[in-house]
Amino acid sequence: MASRQFVVLAIVAVVLPTVAMAAEFTVGDDKGWTIDFDYQAWAKGKTFLVGDTLVFKYTQGNHNVFKVNGTAFKDCTKPPLNEALTSGNDTITLATPGNKWYICGVNDHCANYGQKLAITVHGSLSPEPTPTPIPDAPAPGPAAPSPLSYTLYI
Ligand code: CU
Repeated sequence: MASRQFVVLAIVAVVLPTVAMAAEFTVGDDKGWTIDFDYQAWAKGKTFLVGDTLVFKYTQGNHNVFKVNGTAFKDCTKPPLNEALTSGNDTITLATPGNKWYICGVNDHCANYGQKLAITVHGSLSPEPTPTPIPDAPAPGPAAPSPLSYTLYI
């Protein structure tokens, strides 16, 4: 009995840390989504995971949010206006891993006022380039006769 309880506890202890709570990031923190803010500095050091959300907060009408590709991000190319998020409290769930780019499409906020955000979304909590350790001992299984014992039987 005691050993079975221990096994259950051990499984819980292993599984629980991998069930991470999704985080919500308010872009720009107290400043929100605005001009003359360094969003790359804001994103630096943060870890974005699949399932997390970004919230773009701004006064409705002053700004908007476009999700764009890397080229449009670099060039501040505005997609069609009907693709803009305009609520002033726009929540975006990071559904897939990879690079994500967001710009403001109002006037020249992206091109001349730095209102653009690029992030990398990671698929899991573990650091990306973690090689699986190779165990020293071979996996347990039906023992094949070793060459030595084989020759003894001949
Ligand atoms: Cu703007």
